[in-house]
Amino acid sequence: MIVLGIETSCDDTSLALYERERGILAHLTANQLVHEKYGGIVPEIASRAHLKNLLPVFNALVEDSGVGPNDIGGIGVSNGPGLIGSLLVGVSFAKALAFALGCPLVGVHHIEAHILANELAGAPLGTPALVLVVSGGHTCLYRVDTIGKYELVGNTRDDAAGEAFDKIAKLLGLGFPGGPVIEKAARSGDPTAIEFPRAMLHQDNFDFSFSGLKTAVRLHVEGLPKLTHQRISDVAASAQEAIVDVLVQKTVACAEEHDVRHVYLAGGVAANGALRERMRVDVEERSMTYHAPLIQYCTDNGAMVACAADRHLAAGRNDGTGLDVFARGYVSSWV
Ligand code: KG4
Ligand code: ZN
Repeated sequence: MIVLGIETSCDDTSLALYERERGILAHLTANQLVHEKYGGIVPEIASRAHLKNLLPVFNALVEDSGVGPNDIGGIGVSNGPGLIGSLLVGVSFAKALAFALGCPLVGVHHIEAHILANELAGAPLGTPALVLVVSGGHTCLYRVDTIGKYELVGNTRDDAAGEAFDKIAKLLGLGFPGGPVIEKAARSGDPTAIEFPRAMLHQDNFDFSFSGLKTAVRLHVEGLPKLTHQRISDVAASAQEAIVDVLVQKTVACAEEHDVRHVYLAGGVAANGALRERMRVDVEERSMTYHAPLIQYCTDNGAMVACAADRHLAAGRNDGTGLDVFARGYVSSWV
């Protein structure tokens, strides 16, 4: 069955066509660059841009793939968590299309879609697994016993890791989104230049905290006589090192405690090269297997939504026109 995935939970309008046997048939994203000048996402602007982008992106996707609209056998749409206005635009579009095509429609939990993005690398998710979901809104550890069975075993107490990258980039005047620009600046910086705090690292739990790091970076920057190019790179490299240290050490400790065989990364921050490399080395040293989504499926995308929707449609689910949106919430089990 060919499944259409629709992602509009934040600022990206992203659609994809997927078939389990053949993988991704087409994938198209319209990014909203308009938010850059505000240094963050403006929700009202985001929903209006989705409204403008959705139909042209859908038409181009169908044209690129050679798949006719009537070949679509099911639709999946992110219905939360995310920005309510943005989600409503995607869900309304999905309902209208499912009605017109007479096909089933399922709401997909955005975080489950990030987790299942790992399957787009070519292999089914190995279980039992521990998944570190790191994005702009989440820093969570999920134990996955089988697809559809999720247990939240660690969480941030305040900011998400992606939020920390974004706020630190803003402090350094590097732009938005912060993750890619911090990673780039960090390449010419010294990760040992400044000893930023590693909150909760030695506590006996699997929770995280990143708000103190943001404050530490701000105080450090305010205390500098001049923010030179080299100093920006050193701050970026040292902050990235502090974030990666905590994420990797807590994830590995949690995986050992839960006695899982497989460790997965998921979410936008999983695109970070330093995180991927450190996690791979530390996980493999302990004889567990390390996995991460392909880079293009780390940040928000319609492909991961289509892949997750396929699982739900195969289980016979159909939410139809009663489907609603939600702003917050963790993934719950459905098997
Ligand atoms: O998953 P995502 O696209 O959206 C949410 O669901 O939140 O994640 C976006 C987050 C942003 O905070 C962005 O700065 C971060 O992912 N990000 C990165 C990188 N690319 C994106 N963080 C670190 N390194 C990167 N290369
Ligand atoms: Zn996301």
